[in-house]
Amino acid sequence: MNENRKTPVVPREQMEEQLGICARVAAYWHSRGVTPVAYVETYGCQQNEADSERIRGLLSQCGYGFAQEAEGADVVVMNTCAIREHAEQRVFGNLGALTHTKRRHPGQKIFLCGCMAGQTVVTDRIKKSYPHVDGVFSTHHLWQFPEILWRVLTTGKRVFYVADEAGAVAEGLPVLRDDSLKAWVSIMYGCNNFCTYCIVPYVRGRERSREPEEILAECRELVASGYKDITLLGQNVNSYGKDLGRNMDFADLLEQIARIPGDFLIRFMTSHPRDAGPKLFDTMARNPKIAKQLHLPVQCGSDRVLKAMNRHYDRARYLELVRYAREKMPELVLTSDVIVGFPGETEAEFEETLSLISEVRFDALFTFIYSPRPGTPAAKLPDPVSREEKNRWFDRLCALQNGISEEKHRAYVGRRYRVLVDGTEGELLTARTEGGRLVRLAGDKALVGQFREVEITGSTTWSLTGVFVD
Ligand code: 5AD
Ligand code: SF4
Repeated sequence: MNENRKTPVVPREQMEEQLGICARVAAYWHSRGVTPVAYVETYGCQQNEADSERIRGLLSQCGYGFAQEAEGADVVVMNTCAIREHAEQRVFGNLGALTHTKRRHPGQKIFLCGCMAGQTVVTDRIKKSYPHVDGVFSTHHLWQFPEILWRVLTTGKRVFYVADEAGAVAEGLPVLRDDSLKAWVSIMYGCNNFCTYCIVPYVRGRERSREPEEILAECRELVASGYKDITLLGQNVNSYGKDLGRNMDFADLLEQIARIPGDFLIRFMTSHPRDAGPKLFDTMARNPKIAKQLHLPVQCGSDRVLKAMNRHYDRARYLELVRYAREKMPELVLTSDVIVGFPGETEAEFEETLSLISEVRFDALFTFIYSPRPGTPAAKLPDPVSREEKNRWFDRLCALQNGISEEKHRAYVGRRYRVLVDGTEGELLTARTEGGRLVRLAGDKALVGQFREVEITGSTTWSLTGVFVD
């Protein structure tokens, strides 16, 4: 136990109690002679994908098998995203449709969790207008899912675990992973940045890091069981370790993971330009097991808007970071997030984003139109630019980036890369370069799971084609 840590950890006895409840749920079904099935639907980011793997892990310990759809399932879990309004509307739509699946299978128990469950407006709406939802729990309560499930099964009452908390770190949850080659490993939870447009700090709580021993043990286990590609997850991985009180930062953690013996690659996301710096880039450059891939969201190219977003860096600092990173890692694949139409953004400010994109030439970009999130500071700002205008800006942004992505991909043609063959797509194999670019190629399915040398023979805006050369 680390006595210096500044953020809470769920006590081991409480975790074990939850696992004990899993056994009780399994016995409940066993005594009825039924093998129950569950369906887990995931919205949003990789953090949610990772959380869903834990929900499935818990359900599996509770004796559940898994279905590909809600129809007929005994348990349905909707693991939701709150980042943009559109994501929430989709969830409400799909949640509404579950009244029908439940009517056809009245024993069905429906749960809603994830980021939407962290908002009072959402839970109030579920209480009032979605009576077929049996349980709601925010991300802070994920580790208590066995207890929530048990209460719903045995009392038939609706259960809400949505208390507003700073959050704790829960260790020892079972995981049922989707893939056998690529794995997510959460290294920290929450966010302290409070970018003015973003709901995440409100729904995922304060930054808290897992102890390095726990992370290293998980990574060692993954490598030992054949995983080749490990992505470390956190809302802002660069502030890893600040709450540990042990003189350990994210670059130190990376260095330690890279020392695990075996043939595998480490990636990570997301980095914040305010906290990323030379130490991280030097560590990446020095370690062959750390993929030369960096997701460094810039959000926009105007200093005034960056300030209004509370991003704590300016355009010059961002460009300097990119310059340094590329100097140390000439082969670096760089991606970013951009928001178009932040409240009060002018056309001239938007054009500064375009000019930054032309200057940096990202390999790929995740682009979003600003979506007001109730409760965030930006949602209160005047927002005079029309949706149509923002759509036009958005199209200009995409057109610019698509041209760059296409040119960048064309430069791969004729060159050789080491790739991880990671799956199949119809008759073809799929593979990923170290930088995470998708390559399609013909070959024996037995190659899945291997690192191989390929020559790139063709390219589009989105992907590459190649042939094996070894
Ligand atoms: N509107 C639009 N995009 C947003 N993002 C976060 N909040 C919002 C919002 N309110 C984007 C940011 C972030 C990514 C995960 O989602 O670009 O980096
Ligand atoms: Fe949201 Fe900013 Fe935190 Fe990212 S760093 S999760 S954009 S508040």
